[in-house]
Order: sequence, then C-alpha cells, then structure tokens
Amino acid sequence: MRNIIQLLIIFPIVVSLGIMQDKSNNLQVLEFESERNLKKYMKTVSKDLGVKCKYCHDLNDKSIDTDHKKIAREMMRMQMDLNKSFFALLGDSLHMHGEITQISCWTCHRGTNEPQTVRPKE
Ligand code: HEC
Ligand code: HEC
Repeated sequence: MRNIIQLLIIFPIVVSLGIMQDKSNNLQVLEFESERNLKKYMKTVSKDLGVKCKYCHDLNDKSIDTDHKKIAREMMRMQMDLNKSFFALLGDSLHMHGEITQISCWTCHRGTNEPQTVRPKE
C-alpha cells in the first residue's frame, strides 16, 4: 500500500519534469548527442557569421525563436540538404574531401551576417 502511495506522489513529479524539459528543448533540425557538441556547433556558426550568441538568441531562454534564429534554422536545413543530396554524391565519387563538411555557413558567409550576393566592382 505504501508503495502505491509513493508511486502516486512520484509519478506526477516525473511527468511534469519531463514536460519542462521538452519545453526548454526546441531543436527542430539539429541532433546532437551532447549539450557540449551543440555548444561547439553554435560557436562555429557564430564565428562563421561574425556574430555573438545574442544575434540569434534571447539569452534568458535560448529555446525562444527570434527572427534571426528562424532564418538560421532554414539555413541549417539548406546546408544539410546540400551536403546530403548534392555534395555527398560528389564526395563519394571523387574522394577528395574526406570527412570535411563541404557546405558550411562559412562557405557563403565568410565571417559576416550579410554575405555578398553581387560580385564587387573591380
Ligand atoms: C546564426 C544564429 C545562431 C547563433 C549566432 C547561435 N545560435 Fe544557438 N541556435 C540557433 C538555432 C537556429 C537553433 C535551433 C536549431 C534547431 O531547431 O534544430 C539554436 C539552438 C540553440 C540551443 C538549444 C536551445 C533549445 O531549444 O533548447 C542552444 C543551447 C544554443 N543554440 C546555444 C547557443 C550559444 C551558446 C551560442 C553562442 C556561442 C549560439 N547558440 C549562437 C541559431 C544560432
Ligand atoms: C549557399 C549560401 C549560404 C549558406 C551555406 C548559408 N547562408 Fe545564410 N545567407 C545567405 C544569403 C545569400 C543571405 C542573404 C540573403 C539576403 O541578402 O536577403 C543569407 C542570410 C542569412 C541570415 C540573415 C541575415 C540578415 O541580415 O537578416 C542569417 C541569420 C543566416 N544567413 C544564417 C546562416 C547560417 C546559420 C548558416 C549555416 C547553417 C548559413 N546562413 C549558411 C547564403 C547562405
């Protein structure tokens, strides 16, 4: 009987903790095994665009979607699509790049959040 009562008390706590975690995790595109790898990737993205975390994030809660974060998420989708559907094929047949990710934010952005879309006049 005691066990059942304990269960009745513990179960709702476990469930609500689970819901809280879901709320603070708003990853729709990325999959990382650890928080550490996620942070590492985020640092790379920031450097590739020459910005700080707060360019995309509300620092009080990084799961909140901001305008820049939403664009960035679509860019991540595009990057993954390109690597998977196009460059994976080239990479396999040429064996030139090994493990290097061919398309990254750097490929276009080169350290700025406003990549050049027109070749500068000479
Ligand atoms: C160019 C925009 C951009 C920058 C800069 C950026 N992030 Fe992110 N971050 C994202 C996007 C987009 C997602 C959500 C990805 C998804 O949906 O899979 C995200 C998700 C996260 C999450 C997971 C939030 C959650 O939902 O629980 C953490 C933590 C995070 N970023 C930390 C950082 C840190 C720390 C920095 C600075 C070193 C940083 N980010 C810089 C775009 C950015
Ligand atoms: C194939 C080229 C390409 C790649 C790869 C790319 N971007 Fe972009 N990105 C662009 C272009 C071009 C623009 C500017 C569009 C415009 O001027 O309207 C842009 C704009 C943006 C903006 C909006 C900037 C603003 O001023 O509003 C963000 C944020 C962004 N990119 C994030 C990323 C992130 C994060 C990655 C890597 C996951 C990435 N991009 C990879 C081409 C690229």
